[in-house]
Amino acid sequence: MNVQQSGGGNLTWHDGEVSRADRTEMFGQSGATLWFTGLSGSGKSTIAVAVEAELHRRGKLSYRLDGDNIRLGINKNLGFSADDRTENIRRIGEVAKLFADAGVITLSSFISPYAADRDGVRALHAAAGLPFIEVHVDCPLDEAERRDPKGLYKKARAGEIRNFTGIDDPYQAPPAAELTLRTDQLSLAEEVAAIIAYLEQIGVLIEG
Ligand code: ADX
Repeated sequence: MNVQQSGGGNLTWHDGEVSRADRTEMFGQSGATLWFTGLSGSGKSTIAVAVEAELHRRGKLSYRLDGDNIRLGINKNLGFSADDRTENIRRIGEVAKLFADAGVITLSSFISPYAADRDGVRALHAAAGLPFIEVHVDCPLDEAERRDPKGLYKKARAGEIRNFTGIDDPYQAPPAAELTLRTDQLSLAEEVAAIIAYLEQIGVLIEG
């Protein structure tokens, strides 16, 4: 998909009167994006749901952006070609940045198979001064395929789904993710604890 800049150069950013610091004080947290990337069936959504629940228990506001959910709505016009996956990640990268800017801890779970697309989202956050935490939800293909929670690997092996990530489409693992979670070795509780500890360490969660 060819995305063109609209507005013909006649657009100007309009600032408001409420600053990010104002929101941080109001919420007792600063906005950030946790970007979960990994194979289908690796555990991205499961971890995001558990982190969301733990943050809520601590009185912290988070919101999940999930591949399947988003593809049922705002991105329902996109498929799984390389161009469509890139556009999927570009749009959600922008949405995640908006949520993070609003002060929300954003939990984004997309396969996001291309390193360049994820790096684009990282750059977007860096330019806005917002934390971007790439979490590699690392699960060997044979284990993801054994789990096959949606029966999609079976269909892909049978040739009923084409361009399925890990089968006949690539997955580029992140070379330098902030966190790598081996979901075939760790428990869900350990994964959640690692993420919460990281958020505390970088000052996203403020006491009180
Ligand atoms: S991404 O590659 O563009 O980041 P995304 O995370 O939004 O993918 O969507 C992946 C989900 O779409 C999978 O969990 C699975 O349920 C479904 N899906 C359907 N077709 C495919 C396919 N060809 N490759 C990967 N996932 C697919």
